[in-house]
Amino acid sequence: MTDSPAADHRAPDGLRVLPVTGLGEFGTDSDLAAEIVAAAPWIADGDILVVTSKVFSKTEGRMVAAPTGPDERDAFRRKLIDDETVRIVARRNRTLITANRNGLVQAAAGVDGSNVRTDQIALLPLDPDASAAGLRTRLADDFGRSVAVIVTDTMGRAWRTGQTDVAIGAAGIAVSHPYDGVDDSYGNTLMVTDIAIADELAAAADLVKGKLDGVPVAVVRGMPFHDDGTAARDLVRDLDDDMFRLGVEEALAQGHREALLTRRSVRRFADVPVDPEILRAAFADALTAPAPHHTHPIRFIWVRDRDRRRRLLDAMADAWRADLSADEKTPESIAKRVQRGQILYDAPELVIPVMTGEGMHEYPDERRNRCEDTMFLVAGGAAVAGLLVALSAREVGSCWVGSTIFAADVVRTELDLPGDWQPLGAVAIGHPEEPAGLRSPASTDGLVMEL
Ligand SMILES: Cc1cc2nc3c(=O)[nH]c(=O)nc-3n(C[C@H](O)[C@H](O)[C@H](O)COP(=O)(O)O)c2cc1C
Repeated sequence: MTDSPAADHRAPDGLRVLPVTGLGEFGTDSDLAAEIVAAAPWIADGDILVVTSKVFSKTEGRMVAAPTGPDERDAFRRKLIDDETVRIVARRNRTLITANRNGLVQAAAGVDGSNVRTDQIALLPLDPDASAAGLRTRLADDFGRSVAVIVTDTMGRAWRTGQTDVAIGAAGIAVSHPYDGVDDSYGNTLMVTDIAIADELAAAADLVKGKLDGVPVAVVRGMPFHDDGTAARDLVRDLDDDMFRLGVEEALAQGHREALLTRRSVRRFADVPVDPEILRAAFADALTAPAPHHTHPIRFIWVRDRDRRRRLLDAMADAWRADLSADEKTPESIAKRVQRGQILYDAPELVIPVMTGEGMHEYPDERRNRCEDTMFLVAGGAAVAGLLVALSAREVGSCWVGSTIFAADVVRTELDLPGDWQPLGAVAIGHPEEPAGLRSPASTDGLVMEL
């Protein structure tokens, strides 16, 4: 053991990885430290003891009596996995990837029916760092051996087939060796290299421990290390920094579920342009909205020309003022109301959704023609709502404003639209000044009737 961190993490004179053979079966009454020293009296100061976690499962009473029938054993194991699971990361058929109370992400929460009696199932130690620290203290205090201890478990890795052993507990050793800011021999500064020494030691020790022949402890000798107070828990990536905290299918499913909740009316936009491709993609999504008779009656008019936009909005404002004057509103009240339309001048982009009526059926009576009109209008609403969600799912904000509905003639004139096209409002679009985050689902109290 060294007192201070080495510049490099290598073992300069090579390593030896020595199996501790002759250990018997462990149980809650085993004196683990004494049995290890009896089996390996050659253990010396500066060695690193690498111990399979199942040893601690056995000595710490984490072996659970299980039914022996294959179906019952399987059901019982699944219940144990549930109990040990804090978070489900991914599920594919019978494979469950979970995070446990210690943040360890692995298959089946580390619940293990291998290398145990057929009437038992092993749970991981509750606190493997504490298990490592306890053994280390006993070896020092009662046997005078100053060693580091690593507790291991076998895990698969994302992106790679097969499993390796990793450190789930550690004591007396800096679990990683950071190289931040150190220059390599070519003069490149290493910024993110942080070698997970404890995991490398766990994997190296597995090469002599193996899985089948009852060698649960190995000793790594020749490895310079120091104790910086870190533990295996420090090798668990914080959830916030974890780019892969969910399986792909789970992340997609969550994204689908939350798409609607990304939308809210955004009335203050950042002064940054919106990528036109985002708008085009959102239009394409929104135009998948349901419509009657397999028709495509909706058009999105993207008013890109600034002068045209201003002329349209000025003309709409004039019409609005005329309506409000006819209502005998005061000039102050009129100015205040018209001012609310400012968002349509200011938004980085403006889209006028329109219902063309293309494909509408004609009936001999007025009643059914009105129904047909309503049916096409609600289809327009669905397409506009789809556009807003398609935008918000791409982190682009919008506000659907009704004003063009009240100035349909003005809109048709200014935009040269056919006389039967009905504007469905206007959509102000831009990146939100402040990201609002996901909203909560609405309360359904009194709003959903179950008959
Ligand atoms: C047809 C329609 C017309 C709207 N007109 C306006 C409007 O003129 N001005 C405005 O600020 N918001 C308008 N809104 C947006 C609503 O005010 C908004 O949806 C409501 O406040 C709920 O907020 P949220 O969209 O964030 O859920 C309109 C929404 C719809 C569907």
